[in-house]
Amino acid sequence: MVEQARTGNFVVAVDGPSGSGKSTVSRRLASVAGARYLDTGAMYRAVTWAVLRAGVDPHDADGVEKVAADVTLSIGTDPAAPHVVADGVAVDDEIRGSEVTSAVSAVAAVPAVREMLVVEQRALIAAHAPIVVEGRDIGSVVAPDADLKVYLTASAETRAHRRSAETAADVAATAEALARRDRLDSTRTADPLQQAPDAVALDTTEMGIDEVVARLRDLLHDRTAR
Ligand code: DC
Repeated sequence: MVEQARTGNFVVAVDGPSGSGKSTVSRRLASVAGARYLDTGAMYRAVTWAVLRAGVDPHDADGVEKVAADVTLSIGTDPAAPHVVADGVAVDDEIRGSEVTSAVSAVAAVPAVREMLVVEQRALIAAHAPIVVEGRDIGSVVAPDADLKVYLTASAETRAHRRSAETAADVAATAEALARRDRLDSTRTADPLQQAPDAVALDTTEMGIDEVVARLRDLLHDRTAR
């Protein structure tokens, strides 16, 4: 059921670690609220895809910065069919592969890459709001004035099970890869994963998707009705 777009060009920021349910929840919330959807992780992944395609070492910050400055991204914001095109190539499948996944934290840690992508993300938000935006630094950096900020978490075990169900990879290996990525994403100097002080924290370990989406829809309703 799709409701009428709510009053105003609201922005919802959804942050949290991998496997916390961000993508599913954000897409569903955008659909029921009549909003657009922006997956900022897909943008970091698309730049990483371009870095690997150019044969640049993801840890070579200068090389990575050059690739990021040159690549042209086109990001679809339909919650029913989000898509990413990099330099004219549809990269939706490739950016979810293991090569990109294991290199993306290094690319996302390069301050110049973050600066460029934050500018693009703010422009997309301004052009497409009302919008639900998911990432790691949305409430803290990209959209500090968001109408609703949400920080989703779940136990490490639950997150590993969710991710391995999506990727058909071994649970233990997935748990290890997630822990590594969490560590890199939370400890980098530039805009690390963090909960904005005014974010609503939801632990989704014991919650179903419907329950999380319903809770956020109510919160959004309260915020936008003011
Ligand atoms: O949400 P995801 O797994 O697709 O994100 C891919 C990577 O990009 C992840 O390692 C963290 C990084 N990222 C980020 O640094 N800032 C964002 N706003 C979104 C993602």
